[in-house]
Amino acid sequence: MFNQDTISRFQNIETPFYYYNMEVLGQTLAACHAASSKYGFHVHYAMKANFNPKVLEMIQSFDFGADCVSGGEVMAAIEHGFGKEKVVFAGVGKSDKEINAALDVDIFCFNVESVQELVIINDLAKAKNKTAGVAIRINPNVDAHTHHYITTGLDENKFGINTWQLGDVAETLRGCKNLQFLGIHFHIGSQITDLEVYRSLCIRINEMQDWFEDRGFKVKVLNAGGGLGVDYYNPDTNTIANFEGYFKVFKDFLNVKPGQEVHFELGRALVAQCASLISRVLYVKNGQKKNFLVLDAGMTELMRPMLYQAYHEVENISRQWAVGSGQLSSPGVGRSESSEDKPTHPSPLTTHYDVVGPICESTDCFRKDVPLPESFRGDLIAVRTAGAYGEVMASGYNLRTKAESVYSE
Ligand code: LLP
Repeated sequence: MFNQDTISRFQNIETPFYYYNMEVLGQTLAACHAASSKYGFHVHYAMKANFNPKVLEMIQSFDFGADCVSGGEVMAAIEHGFGKEKVVFAGVGKSDKEINAALDVDIFCFNVESVQELVIINDLAKAKNKTAGVAIRINPNVDAHTHHYITTGLDENKFGINTWQLGDVAETLRGCKNLQFLGIHFHIGSQITDLEVYRSLCIRINEMQDWFEDRGFKVKVLNAGGGLGVDYYNPDTNTIANFEGYFKVFKDFLNVKPGQEVHFELGRALVAQCASLISRVLYVKNGQKKNFLVLDAGMTELMRPMLYQAYHEVENISRQWAVGSGQLSSPGVGRSESSEDKPTHPSPLTTHYDVVGPICESTDCFRKDVPLPESFRGDLIAVRTAGAYGEVMASGYNLRTKAESVYSE
């Protein structure tokens, strides 16, 4: 829901653009901070979800660490003030250049995804006469019950080290004098809304830490990764993810020993709700079978619906402020946000549209059969809950210009 002033402001901005509500971001970060600190848990922000500089700045101000997946992210984390002792680096394909760069800035920990990678990090650290902190990313074979494209913790996934290889890991660690074993790392997938899944993960983490401790390895860090999902269906009412419930599962089921630290890597849950993609209707195509709203934004700006069949609310914000029974108002005509300004939705003029983008691909469709007020060329359309894996996954396909970012005032 956007107030009238915000919609008026949008009228003068070239579309498409990402709109960041910094107040929502601040509230989300505060909620996560409060819920995690209650148990002394450490949260690293998964930068891949959104590395917009202003977003990073605000996240860093809440004292979160950074979870990075490339040399570029490691550098951006340091540049944006994340303490090097709070930077972790995961990824199945870390290049030598990236490992060297991370060694140079003395990051806290490499989350290592293969036995071969352990040896490479050891060699590179030795060449620099340094010791690299490492955690072993274990593939726990726990089903996250999410879309298969964003599931990462099953035996068939490329991520992490399978449990049958742990003997090899232990032996390699013993021979690698330039590595300091810090602990174990897991990440089973993204957009997880069933908290039961995390209970199963806790059981696996408990087993795995015992495995290492039984073999003489002190496990200092238990890193449970990220994945907490958000409510894409209610962008206004459920703007804060269930941080309380999420951390409580770990409090209740993780076997945390004295001196151990529990780490998390949340991305989506921190940033998804704070942004919307704002675009304009270019054309309304009324066909015999379908009505299409052709927007000036498409899969080049937000790829999630096309790549994962992800659901995002789509709203015609030029026509959301209706007065009385279905009378539609124009945006920005001097009305303030008051209790009378309740949207009456759906309006009697509701039409079903396939909301599509301008890109030359049939999959370039945000949603099919969306009930919307009758819409016209120039109307502003908001695709909600686009703060995570939105702007950062934009592409230049069709030689598109990158959408600008606009922030709440
Ligand atoms: N840690 C690791 C090792 C990860 O690979 C990820 C995400 C996270 C943490 C953060 O997960 P989150 O809390 O954001 O769920 N592009 C997809 C999501 C890909 C997630 C990749 N890894 C999407 O738009 O749904």
